[in-house]
Amino acid sequence: MIALGPLRLETPLIAASGTFGSIIEFAKVARLDAYGALVAKSVSADPWPGRIAPRIAGTDAGMLNGIGIQNPGIDSWLEHIAPRFESLGVPVWGSAVGRTPGEFATVASKMEGGGVRAVEVNLSCPNLEGHSIIALDAGLSSDVVREVRSAVRIPVGAKLSPNASNIVRIADSVREAGADFLTLTNTVKGAAIDIESRRPALSGVIGGYSGPAIKPISLACVLEVHEALPETPIVGCGGIRTGRDVVEYLLAGATAVAIGTVHFAEPRAGERVLHETLDLVTRLGAHDPSELTGGMQPW
Ligand SMILES: Cc1cc2nc3c(=O)[nH]c(=O)nc-3n(C[C@H](O)[C@H](O)[C@H](O)COP(=O)(O)O)c2cc1C
Repeated sequence: MIALGPLRLETPLIAASGTFGSIIEFAKVARLDAYGALVAKSVSADPWPGRIAPRIAGTDAGMLNGIGIQNPGIDSWLEHIAPRFESLGVPVWGSAVGRTPGEFATVASKMEGGGVRAVEVNLSCPNLEGHSIIALDAGLSSDVVREVRSAVRIPVGAKLSPNASNIVRIADSVREAGADFLTLTNTVKGAAIDIESRRPALSGVIGGYSGPAIKPISLACVLEVHEALPETPIVGCGGIRTGRDVVEYLLAGATAVAIGTVHFAEPRAGERVLHETLDLVTRLGAHDPSELTGGMQPW
């Protein structure tokens, strides 16, 4: 059992938001009990149409996406998607997104009514039309978290951006505002251009870059935040593909980890990554993954 702040997880693995369908589809192909929690795709107060195609693109290492958080809006999500989570047997967390602190709070409060066990506040989407990343601004990020915190009783997580110039400052401000845990991190801003057509690979030009290439970037964020705020529960996220990657994040200071892009090539990745992780934990002489958290040794 993993203790992530007030939450208890059966395994240290979490399915990252937006990479596990609406969760229902994956229940048909993957063993959900490999995961301690499943994070639903981010949802906003009103329906968002998302961007036009092309919205995903491959790169030499990893992928780009610029979906624009297409989602049906919280009311439709509550009616059609959330009621199906109950039967899955694994806790589902909601992921709230919005344009203002009030919108985030409305979504989070409705999600709580829909039975999610926790809400992750997505402050770090890099491809929202006409908006910059909230998690680059400590004041705005803490306003959002404060408003969400006062709107719900369930645990609140803040998902931060690896693009923040001082991630410790943002982490400190959202913790102060009441975040129970931090998810570090989301995609890195990225782009690609097709030289023949001279068009960008994504219709939104700049999108989110994910996959193995971003692991060192997210890992550095986890190290910095864990060093500055050692009591803060951290979900490490970015580029995880193997049990070794998971253990690296644990040693850096994460208590749990979220896996995303690996699901696109390998929908059953959770089961494999969990087995690899548990084997490694035993080989490294620990009884439990949590024993490795923050265990990196200095030179
Ligand atoms: C296609 C796609 C859609 C995503 N949608 C969301 C989303 O709706 N909300 C969110 O918080 N993160 C979203 N993410 C980010 C992932 O949850 C994860 O933080 C990121 O991809 C880094 O992890 P990875 O390298 O393991 O994929 C999305 C990522 C991808 C690739």
